[in-house]
Amino acid sequence: MTTSTPTPVLEARNVTMRFGGLTAVRSVDFTVNAGEIVGLIGPNGAGKTTFFNCLTGLYVPTEGTVSYKGTVLPPKPHLVTQAGIARTFQNIRLFANMTVLENVLVGRHTRTKEGLWSALLRGPGFKKAEKASEERAMELLEFIGLAHKRDHLSRNLPYGEQRKLEIARALASEPGLILLDEPTAGMNPQETRATEELVFAIRDKGVAVLLIEHDMRFVFNLSDRVAVLVQGEKLVEGTSEVVQADERVIAAYLGEPFEGAPGEAEAAEVEAAEAAADATGTTSTTSTKGEGQ
Ligand SMILES: Nc1ncnc2c1ncn2[C@@H]1O[C@H](COP(=O)(O)OP(=O)(O)OP(=O)(O)O)[C@@H](O)[C@H]1O
Ligand SMILES: [Mg+2]
Repeated sequence: MTTSTPTPVLEARNVTMRFGGLTAVRSVDFTVNAGEIVGLIGPNGAGKTTFFNCLTGLYVPTEGTVSYKGTVLPPKPHLVTQAGIARTFQNIRLFANMTVLENVLVGRHTRTKEGLWSALLRGPGFKKAEKASEERAMELLEFIGLAHKRDHLSRNLPYGEQRKLEIARALASEPGLILLDEPTAGMNPQETRATEELVFAIRDKGVAVLLIEHDMRFVFNLSDRVAVLVQGEKLVEGTSEVVQADERVIAAYLGEPFEGAPGEAEAAEVEAAEAAADATGTTSTTSTKGEGQ
């Protein structure tokens, strides 16, 4: 949603990331405003995840700065989380042998004041904070629809639920901005539609959203603005309509004009996905290839 006077939440200025001779991200300027859902698209290897890693302190950009609500962020992941930016990963990173609830509680630790000694001694302050944390974690599990699985081990969840749990864990740090790296990768069309609703609901709670996706229907339905990264450079940025119609984007990435017509093809996809899930009894755990994701 764009308001008359946009308030920037995230501002990346001239962000460049080089790995030896390879420039993965080149002089990217990028803004996300309060209340917005912004999509970041581009071919495999375009530098999207690398850009996320620069925004979240996982990588120290070779050049450029990243600001959150007007303050330049130090390139340290925990400080970025503390400042108010949360993220999910292209390749799911959950604690496989922890329960669903415990995974969300891990995400809360940046927001709890109780220190290590208090936790070890389990004093009254710790117990009170622990109870409040658990209540908040359960609220988030209800929000994503996984409260009934609070005591399941995360590794036993179907793939789509693991992705949702990662979102709940990210939300547990009470961010003002959430970055989602391919949130629907490996999901069937029904799960993708549910995730679309979830992203709108997150935005409606006052959290700005920046998402990377290859599912064009998902991106163009959701996003107030879409930026296209090609070979590390921002090629085009604009509304879904503008980006879908841009000939450079079509040539570099989309291939043909995007048509958001669901219908038969989608129904067939749902059936195929369900048949595949029935056949294997479970789903895989990785989405796409790559390192440092
Ligand atoms: N830590 C690293 N060291 C060296 N090269 C890297 C590193 N991380 C990423 N790259 C390179 O940077 C380029 C961009 O990769 P990146 O993962 O950011 O692409 P992407 O747009 O996220 O692609 P995909 O859609 O496949 O996830 C690739 O050529 C990749 O090999
Ligand atoms: Mg990526």
